[in-house]
Amino acid sequence: MEHFQGKVAFITGAASGMGKAFAERLAREGMRLALADLEPEPLARFTQELESHGAEVLPLTVDVSDAGQVRQAAERTLARFGTVDLVINNAGVEGYLDGPIWEAESSDWAWTMGVNFWGVVHCVEALLPVLIEKDDGHLVNTASMTALVRGANMYSIAKHAVLAYTETIRSDLARRNSRVQVSVLCPGIIATNLFLGSRNRPERWQRTSNTPGAEQGRKLRLEMHERLSQGMQPSQVAEILLDGIRRNQFYILTDDGWHPQIESRFADIMAGVSPLGWRGVRLEPRS
Ligand SMILES: NC(=O)c1ccc[n+]([C@@H]2O[C@H](COP(=O)([O-])OP(=O)(O)OC[C@H]3O[C@@H](n4cnc5c(N)ncnc54)[C@H](O)[C@@H]3O)[C@@H](O)[C@H]2O)c1
Repeated sequence: MEHFQGKVAFITGAASGMGKAFAERLAREGMRLALADLEPEPLARFTQELESHGAEVLPLTVDVSDAGQVRQAAERTLARFGTVDLVINNAGVEGYLDGPIWEAESSDWAWTMGVNFWGVVHCVEALLPVLIEKDDGHLVNTASMTALVRGANMYSIAKHAVLAYTETIRSDLARRNSRVQVSVLCPGIIATNLFLGSRNRPERWQRTSNTPGAEQGRKLRLEMHERLSQGMQPSQVAEILLDGIRRNQFYILTDDGWHPQIESRFADIMAGVSPLGWRGVRLEPRS
């Protein structure tokens, strides 16, 4: 997609961080926007801000982990704008960080995978058929650099799945000679509210027990929030994404800082050796 003026973008997780930056950038390109997020108040404030600058915006309060809510949001988008041209599946949460993976509860899996993986699947199922039908448009799924390096926590399990899912979509579209374009965005460390994601953990998926790992998780979230605040600005990622969409780039990485870890993972796999430095990529609080 080279021209954006007058076209329609559907963006999830649009009330904060990167989703917000994408919406701002695409509004400047003259796109009409369907903005989906779980948090109604920041979404309403952001909508007003965009509208005051002349953008056409449809705010949608949606939990992407709920297939029914996503279907309704897609229907409302099509009813308002008649079509969709660019779908950006960006909503995400940091998920379970509260102990070793085998101690996670089913509610931890339901929340972490529900938003980060199933949220993407639900939006693809609701809107990709529109792009396929008109044989045009662009789908972006947000994975992460953690999808490219060794698995280290539940979040990275979900992001590995998003990456493989997006590769599969692309290969299935290619087999059908579809002209729909696909990208997988892999951000590194970006200054957003990702590690405050627990604020959005729904009641139905609260933990049933307070394990010792909960304190570890709380400290890790604070440390990681601090670390992200020193990362790349979301507005810069928006420029990188726009450029990647224009050039129809499949893998869009925000920087090359993770290349050594990506290379060492594949080198270990091909050499058949046990990985060194697992702790190097594992997210753990300092003590
Ligand atoms: N920040 C980083 O360093 C980083 C790195 C790699 C990947 N990512 C990914 O980027 C994407 C955007 O996250 P961000 O970093 O901008 O974080 P953020 O917390 O600033 O924004 C995420 C948005 O998603 C919304 N959200 C959460 N749960 C939702 C749900 N169930 N349904 C709908 N919306 C929901 C939140 O309300 C929030 O507005 C996520 O997929 C994240 O995993 C972030």
